[in-house]
Amino acid sequence: MVHCVNIGTPDSPTATKVMLLGSGELGKEVIIALQRLGVETIAVDRYPNAPGQQVAHRAYTINMTDPEAVAEVIFKEKPDYVVPEIEAIATDALARVEERGWTNVIPCPKATQLTMNREGIRKLAAEDLGLPTSPYRFASSLDEVREAAEALGYPVVIKPVMSSSGHGQSVVREPGAVEAAWEYATTEGRVKGERVIVEGFVDFDYEITQLTVRAKGSDGEIHSHFCAPVGHRQQGGDYVESWQPQPMSEAALTKAREIADKVTTALGGSGIFGVELFVIGDEVYFSEVSPRPHDTGLVTMATQRLSEFELHARAILGLPVDTTLCRPGASAVIYGTEDSKAVVFEGLEEALAVPESDVRLFGKPSSSAPHRRMGVALATADDIETARERARECAQAVKVKY
Ligand SMILES: Nc1ncnc2c1ncn2[C@@H]1O[C@H](COP(=O)(O)OP(=O)(O)O)[C@@H](O)[C@H]1O
Ligand SMILES: [Mg+2]
Repeated sequence: MVHCVNIGTPDSPTATKVMLLGSGELGKEVIIALQRLGVETIAVDRYPNAPGQQVAHRAYTINMTDPEAVAEVIFKEKPDYVVPEIEAIATDALARVEERGWTNVIPCPKATQLTMNREGIRKLAAEDLGLPTSPYRFASSLDEVREAAEALGYPVVIKPVMSSSGHGQSVVREPGAVEAAWEYATTEGRVKGERVIVEGFVDFDYEITQLTVRAKGSDGEIHSHFCAPVGHRQQGGDYVESWQPQPMSEAALTKAREIADKVTTALGGSGIFGVELFVIGDEVYFSEVSPRPHDTGLVTMATQRLSEFELHARAILGLPVDTTLCRPGASAVIYGTEDSKAVVFEGLEEALAVPESDVRLFGKPSSSAPHRRMGVALATADDIETARERARECAQAVKVKY
């Protein structure tokens, strides 16, 4: 099949226009990648001067959970592509604007709808696709949570169905702790809702993100292309460090890719996905999936020929991709730990004196307590252990001043 991708000139009638809905540190990198390909970019976020807004051609600040506001900005700009960067978006509005032919949603409206709610994606993965997952139940009252925990057996993990970055999530080890976890989940979720998922605790050996990009192959058809597995460490539901490649048995890697292929194919569309998996020996369990770049994949800016952001940009535009890993590497998060505006980063000379290191400072207008991701340290080495040490050393040398 012959296909033809043309890219116009920014700020002219021929422009190829891409709008990011959510313009944090991940969106900022997608925007930079798109601009390198000559694309006109529009950054939308819920607060002004978000990282991606600082580098885009134009910026809007709107309430992205308001369907009217989302439809209005898309109608005004009529971008060729709309790229959600976060989950908390009025996804019904995305489905409507695509139906009306105003734009194309990346990867597709169905993927954004199913993945914004743990119930949608878990039922698709476990019940429709038959993928192995943690045992789980959904619950809408304290009694139902207790019942679910008894049925699954302690420990369990309780999470609001609509939440990300560990918000409202807790591990419960005994019946006495259920009520507090329920309270926490129902007040800390994105939508003040009463529905939670109760999952059996998976005592995994390690967890990975299988970055998977759905993009056109040489036959013109869309296929899944796999990056080397990214290992990571989470603290309180938030990623602290990641590395690539995570060593895996042949059998586990094959299963990881089968799962990633099935779930991304079922979600459909074009773009990068972060498929989160738990591994025990040769067994692999599906956990969740982001239909967009994944925070743990920031490491790919140091390790791959094309970072996950560049892969996303290419897939969005219908261009060929290349998932080659060049060198083992790691990333370590730089946190702000106090409420403050206009922080200052110190210690960069020392940080960047670490061999094969680099930093990204996101330029967020404010930091927040207890911790907000303000930047990331990157490093490469002959092996992942050395790369992890270098990334950590680099991150620790950067001091955030309030
Ligand atoms: N069932 C589980 N068993 C063991 N650990 C879990 C389980 N669910 C989540 N976790 C841990 O918590 C982290 C965050 O959970 P996740 O479901 O990915 O939430 P979020 O959407 O906030 O990223 C996971 O990366 C993993 O480390
Ligand atoms: Mg996760």
